[in-house]
Amino acid sequence: MQIAILYGTETGNAEMLAEDIASHLSDHDTSVTNLSDFDPADFDRETFYVVVTSTYGDGELPASAQPFATAMDRAAPNLSGIRFAIFGMGDSEYPETFNFGGKRLEEILTGAGAERVGERVTHDASGADMADDLALPWIDEILTTVDA
Ligand SMILES: Cc1cc2nc3c(=O)[nH]c(=O)nc-3n(C[C@H](O)[C@H](O)[C@H](O)COP(=O)(O)O)c2cc1C
Repeated sequence: MQIAILYGTETGNAEMLAEDIASHLSDHDTSVTNLSDFDPADFDRETFYVVVTSTYGDGELPASAQPFATAMDRAAPNLSGIRFAIFGMGDSEYPETFNFGGKRLEEILTGAGAERVGERVTHDASGADMADDLALPWIDEILTTVDA
């Protein structure tokens, strides 16, 4: 099974985590793509998607995920049969909009018919956990379901 890791970032944290997840899954066929370079027409039902995104501005998607959101809005693809997991990165210093980026991307994907697998993680940059420490066991657990 192919695993496509898609990331949305403003200052690189989500990209670093996406690369770390790919290294961790080195026994799988993985790719890492910035959402700014991903066309919604390229979704493929044989691929499992791992989406990593931060939140910026006032609870908005980070800059690199915004063209994807616009493209999804324009293309309105039918993503039924597409499965994805989603890891949000945020900071509880922004309590009103904590992790809205991941929430928004999840809504965009499920709104188009895709199915979320596992729980959406809400990483907190002000919390005790490093993103990798949450993400690597999380993706291992999800893949036991998906691979089955
Ligand atoms: C200017 C600015 C605005 C931010 N706004 C939010 C926000 O509204 N909600 C949130 O949960 N995190 C917010 N964050 C925190 C980032 O999402 C967090 O630092 C994340 O790890 C950044 O990842 P990135 O480098 O991939 O963009 C903000 C950070 C900055 C610097």
